[in-house]
Amino acid sequence: MARSEPVPSTVLVTGGAGFIGSHACVELLDHGYEVIVVDDYSNSTPQVLARVERIAGRFVGAVYELDIRDRRALSAVFHRHSVDAVVHFAAHKSVSRSTRTPAEYYDTNVGGTTALLHTMHEHGVSRLVFSSTCSVYGDADDGRLDEATPPRPTNPYAASKWLCEQILADVCRRLPEYTVMCLRYFNPAGAHPSGLLGEDPLGEPDNLMPYVAQVAVGRRERLRVFGDDYPTADGTAVRDYVHVMDTVHAHRVALDHLVDGPGMHVYNLGLGRGRSVLEVVAAFSEACGRPVPYVVAPRRPGDVAELVADVSAVERAWGWRPTQNLADMCRDAWRFQRLNPHGYA
Ligand code: NAD
Ligand code: WQD
Repeated sequence: MARSEPVPSTVLVTGGAGFIGSHACVELLDHGYEVIVVDDYSNSTPQVLARVERIAGRFVGAVYELDIRDRRALSAVFHRHSVDAVVHFAAHKSVSRSTRTPAEYYDTNVGGTTALLHTMHEHGVSRLVFSSTCSVYGDADDGRLDEATPPRPTNPYAASKWLCEQILADVCRRLPEYTVMCLRYFNPAGAHPSGLLGEDPLGEPDNLMPYVAQVAVGRRERLRVFGDDYPTADGTAVRDYVHVMDTVHAHRVALDHLVDGPGMHVYNLGLGRGRSVLEVVAAFSEACGRPVPYVVAPRRPGDVAELVADVSAVERAWGWRPTQNLADMCRDAWRFQRLNPHGYA
């Protein structure tokens, strides 16, 4: 497509020290973008950004420790830098914690997004890539989920992201200069191939892949497989795992397409293929060269049998398609865990 405007060159990354944000910073630096990071380190550490710079062989333009809900501090960043576009990762993401502290999730995820939108508006910035989630689909019927599947969030985390999506859609309807790329990730996993960056959640991991990795490295005794009585081939729940490097590549493609035209565009990001918990355990055991011990435990409340993305829309729109499979994700997650048995600490 012919473009009349250049692609954005200075990108503000909120939550840039987090799992996906840090990989995105590498991807953007590798492709010539100026990157400005804001993060409050509520679920990350500043050391991550030194690793980002080491991998990219370039410096992040500036890093600000701030809470995105602090509009004064955020506005000062927009004053200092001529921001062309924002990639907004900063959020709380634990489904289980969101059910215990819902107000905190609405405050950070929705309040953080509206504070960001307000500040962008003040500074004439109208291009945004937003991190959404497959969990907005909730307990939709089993099968492939496309973007037309009606959202039915079943927990405060998912509801907070769905609220953000609705706010962003409304902003785009009312302000024609806005372009928002809303990416609904399924289950990002894996790590940067250098082994320097990966997933290092604070405390006990909620997610399957980091839990399996910590068992494999001896930090935890065994995995609990939550349920083996689902109506799936081996009885364990099926998810769509997508490599974090493919995920962040899609963000760079999204930035390139922010100039295509205004409005809100919503795309699933997944592999388009479902894998069961036991398949993940087997693939990780293969990657690390020894069996990952597990026990079968009761189903986790709120889990559904199967969530698999239909990723045809993003492929049609941008030609993006994932290139790495589950074995690649396990290989890279294992390399990170083996080289950093205690994470970034
Ligand atoms: P993460 O927790 O590793 O990264 C989030 C980053 O945002 C952290 O560095 C954290 O310190 C920061 N942050 C949180 N609240 C902040 C605030 N108020 N102000 C400034 N910084 C703040 O999570 P992630 O896995 O990298 O996820 C990134 C985004 O992708 C999130 O919006 C998440 O909801 C979304 N998402 C993640 C997944 C997944 O499985 N990892 C799936 C779907 C969607
Ligand atoms: C995957 C499967 C578990 C841990 C969540 C959010 C979603 C998105 C990704 C942010 C499930 C099973 C897990 C364990 C297990 N995040 N499991 N033992 O639940 O598909 O999605 O993370 O947006 O919004 O809902 O991912 O990695 O937690 O679980 O058996 O110790 O592994 O039951 O079937 P989930 P997950």
